[in-house]
Amino acid sequence: MSMTSSLLHQSICTTKIPYLVNFRMDQPDLQIRIMQDEDIKQVTEIDRSSFTLPWPPRSFLFEIHENAYSLPLVAEFTSDDGCKEISGFLVVWIIIDEAHIGTIAVAEKHRKKGIAEKLMKVGLSTAAQKGALSALLEVRRSNTPAITMYEKLGFVVDGVRPKYYKDNNEDAILMSLPNLDQY
Ligand SMILES: CC(C)(COP(=O)(O)OP(=O)(O)OC[C@H]1O[C@@H](n2cnc3c(N)ncnc32)[C@H](O)[C@@H]1OP(=O)(O)O)[C@@H](O)C(=O)NCCC(=O)NCCS
Repeated sequence: MSMTSSLLHQSICTTKIPYLVNFRMDQPDLQIRIMQDEDIKQVTEIDRSSFTLPWPPRSFLFEIHENAYSLPLVAEFTSDDGCKEISGFLVVWIIIDEAHIGTIAVAEKHRKKGIAEKLMKVGLSTAAQKGALSALLEVRRSNTPAITMYEKLGFVVDGVRPKYYKDNNEDAILMSLPNLDQY
C-alpha cells in the first residue's frame, strides 16, 4: 500500500511526538501518530460518545505506558491557525504473529471522511512490519458501518459469539484478515 512506504517514524513540526504517517499529500493536515497522555481527554470524549460500554480513561494510560503489546494511535487534524484536534483513535494489540483490533472510533462530526480506514491501514501495516501474520476483531452484529469497513479492508467473517456484549446481549461477529504479512 502506498501509505506503508511513507511511514516516517520521525518527528515533524516542533513537537517530540512520533508521527507515523503524514497525509498532507491527499488529506491536508491529517496525521496519524502514537497516542500521548495529553490526547486522553479527547480520546475519552470520542469513546464515550461512540460506545455504550466505553473504556475508563485509565485504560488508555495503560495502553500508552504499560501494555508492551499495544499500538495506540490517534488521527489528528491541524487547522490553519495551528489548533490541533483528535478526530479518531485506534488501539491494536500485536501479540506474536496476531494483530487484535482492540477498539476504534471516530468523532461523529468527522465520520465518513476516510479517517477510520486510514487509522486501520496504518495500524495493520505497522503490525505487519512488527511480524503479525493475521488480524482479528469482534464487532456487534448490528454495527453495519464497522462491518462494512472491515470487509472493505479484506476482513472475512469467521464465526459468532452469541450474546457476547453484556449491555444488550448482542452477538459478536468474529472477523479476521489473513495474509497480513502481504498487506
Ligand atoms: C465505524 C467507524 C469507526 C467508521 O469511521 P469512519 O471514519 O466514518 O469510516 P471511513 O470514513 O474511514 O469509512 C471507511 C469505509 O467504512 C464503511 N462505512 C463507514 N461508515 C459507514 C456507514 N455509515 N454505513 C456503511 N458503511 C460505512 C464504508 O465502506 C467506507 O468506505 P467508503 O467511504 O469508500 O464507502 C465509525 O462509524 C465509528 O466511530 N463508529 C462508532 C464506534 C464503532 O462502532 N467502532 C467499531 C467497533 S468494532
